[in-house]
Amino acid sequence: MRVRFTDGGAVREVEAVPGERLLDVARRDGQPLEGTCNGELACATCHVIVAAEDFDRLPPASEEEEDMLDLAPDARRTSRLACQIVLTPALDKLSVRLPTSSA
Ligand code: FES
Repeated sequence: MRVRFTDGGAVREVEAVPGERLLDVARRDGQPLEGTCNGELACATCHVIVAAEDFDRLPPASEEEEDMLDLAPDARRTSRLACQIVLTPALDKLSVRLPTSSA
């Protein structure tokens, strides 16, 4: 399966294995996603913006994730924390962008 990192018009497709966290896939690819707390829901530096058309494919965020997203700079309606997204085949070709990228 693959995930897509978009930046402006550029799309980068990256191989991922079901069961991996999106945070780990992004790190392996060298995306500038910090993930300082490594999934403890304590930092929000793993914030990604999910493509609107893909957002409903994700399981809903937990209350704890929502609380952290409230603190994330530039959070949007389709914002999620990459450490909380566990990839499954149903999420193939999920598109996300980093808040720092151009829309
Ligand atoms: S890595 Fe800290 S909240 Fe995701």
